[in-house]
Amino acid sequence: MSDAIRRLVSENRDYVVALRRHFHNFPELSTEEVKTQERIMAELAALGLAPVKAAGTGVVAEIKGARPGRTVAVRADMDALPIQDECGQPYQSQNAGVCHACGHDGHMAMLLGLAKVLAPLRDELAGTVRLLFQPNEEMPPGGAVAMIDEGCLDGVAAIIGAHLWQPLPTGQLGLTFGRMMAQPGAFAIVLKGKGGHGSTPHVAVDPILVGAAVVQALHTIVSRSIDPLEPVVVSIGVFQAGRVYNVIPDTARIEGTIRVFDGETLKAVHRRIEQIVRGVCEAHGAAYEFTTSDSCPPLVNDAGIARRVWRAGAAVLGDKGVCEIKPVLGGEDFSCYLQKVPGAFMFVGAGNAAKGLVYPHHHPKFDIDEDALAHGVEILARSAVELLTAEL
Ligand code: NI
Repeated sequence: MSDAIRRLVSENRDYVVALRRHFHNFPELSTEEVKTQERIMAELAALGLAPVKAAGTGVVAEIKGARPGRTVAVRADMDALPIQDECGQPYQSQNAGVCHACGHDGHMAMLLGLAKVLAPLRDELAGTVRLLFQPNEEMPPGGAVAMIDEGCLDGVAAIIGAHLWQPLPTGQLGLTFGRMMAQPGAFAIVLKGKGGHGSTPHVAVDPILVGAAVVQALHTIVSRSIDPLEPVVVSIGVFQAGRVYNVIPDTARIEGTIRVFDGETLKAVHRRIEQIVRGVCEAHGAAYEFTTSDSCPPLVNDAGIARRVWRAGAAVLGDKGVCEIKPVLGGEDFSCYLQKVPGAFMFVGAGNAAKGLVYPHHHPKFDIDEDALAHGVEILARSAVELLTAEL
């Protein structure tokens, strides 16, 4: 089986690269993956599979083995980002302001590649490999919840997924045996002061000064209020106030993101933010509104399944090709599947400084090393086949 997989991966290399370039050429934003969905359905139908639409613009299909066995799911995300593509390649985005700047084009191509590899091996499979093409990974709360609500995990014993990963060089597979990616949370604070002329600050309540004090104090949460052994980030990305140089505005707006690995810590950070805002506002005679929103839970790999993926990775890339990585504080709604069934998420190295592929995910010049696509296909295919029969 392993030899057949390797041969088919190699035979279908160009197919996978061509698909990846097609998706890169014609990216679509979260929940708008209509043409992307059409193309995926067509490719799967051409393999003799029976794809069905799911979660609006998603697709589910099954490769049913000749013999009975368990069901293993493999997931790829489908959406692009509202970024102007500057990759400078012939496959640069044709859709103005929309770009596959995270590598999801490659994820879809890899999963279609897996279908192309495993479909001809149906007679040798015991069990079912279910393909999940999930729309809308980028926009909270993400498309995974809708996929799950529609039953995509029904009967599934294990799930795997991969992200092409620029920080890792091509030829490396990164894994963890537990915490892998963070739970993101967002917050917004509106500070309400009292506007006035810049020359009469004593009769105004300056929300800019209040905001400055709030920002300073929020940055003490991680250093002074959280267990130093617990990884947490509080970052502020928006601080907006005023329009005219000699006018004290009425309000200021602060927005930020929080990254944690457990829900209790997130609640503790929310509590601290509100305490700080309330205290600072009281000191200055200002009022406030504080709102929060959560998205996906933290992504935690099942150690046993991660070990199976590790073995598949080592078979493809060699023992030195697989490494245990530190968790990252980015979020990923693959975590929603892992709340329901055990599984593992992996990072397939796709950075290559020698080829000038050095730009991070979500950068306008982001691009992947296409040599990584075959690695991804083979590791996912081997892992899926292994998980069909392995003791879980
Ligand atoms: Ni991504």
